[in-house]
Amino acid sequence: MPIPKWRRFNFIAYFLILFNFSIFAKTIVLGLSKSVKYASLQDNPIVFERDPVCRGKWNSEFFKNEHPIVLELACGKAEYTLGMARLFPEKNFIGVDIKGNRIWSAARLAGLDNLPNVAFIRDQIDKLHEYFLSYDIEEIWITFSDPYLRNGDHKKRLTSKKFLEVYKQVLKESACIHLKTDSDVLYEYTKEVLAEVPSKIHKDYADVYAMNKNEELFGIQTYYEKMHLRDNRTIKYLCFSLL
Ligand SMILES: C[S@@+](CC[C@H](N)C(=O)[O-])C[C@H]1O[C@@H](n2cnc3c(N)ncnc32)[C@H](O)[C@@H]1O
Repeated sequence: MPIPKWRRFNFIAYFLILFNFSIFAKTIVLGLSKSVKYASLQDNPIVFERDPVCRGKWNSEFFKNEHPIVLELACGKAEYTLGMARLFPEKNFIGVDIKGNRIWSAARLAGLDNLPNVAFIRDQIDKLHEYFLSYDIEEIWITFSDPYLRNGDHKKRLTSKKFLEVYKQVLKESACIHLKTDSDVLYEYTKEVLAEVPSKIHKDYADVYAMNKNEELFGIQTYYEKMHLRDNRTIKYLCFSLL
């Protein structure tokens, strides 16, 4: 027997009410969980949120040792920061990202693992000089940063001349900058920029996995790297110094 028109209308109306309600409920839950995360981020002693209080005294005031400091920029959930901190207790690691919820996840894992050699900065990367003095940093890792593919956006790339200048202000002489990316555009762009500034490329792997270099990069895979590998993208790596 055909369903009467008014019943069909009722069914659609119920569906729309339920659907809208579930979106509303989801928004509230997500909003609440974000505000809880942001509040606990502010209370977390290993997270520095727009607060350069340790400038020039990371070792004496925070880490309480004289170990070298390594940065992971655009760290997201900070797989390299955490992975390297476990492998190299004789070094200190600081992950930097602007996104609070990703830093929150990373800081939670560092706390669960009781890692004494890890900290996080939640701020814009171009403010690094507000957090560190010249020669404070031993190494920088840039992991799967956005390639900014739109015309005119290339200045936002983390290997643009503007950002290289920022790194130079805080790095030790000839210190290594490691770039790991799935983006051909970012990889080629970085090499073009490096050809124009005083620099030296030490390692250039066009396909980390085909070249069996994964172990050399500590076998660490980030969240985005895993995603790109599932999409069969090639992972590229550069290690270079600014002279
Ligand atoms: C594609 S995600 C990669 C995250 C992580 N490294 C990974 O591989 O899973 C890029 C990250 O860079 C961060 N980011 C991009 N530009 C930034 C900037 N100028 N300052 C701080 N964080 C930035 C974003 O917030 C984002 O978390």
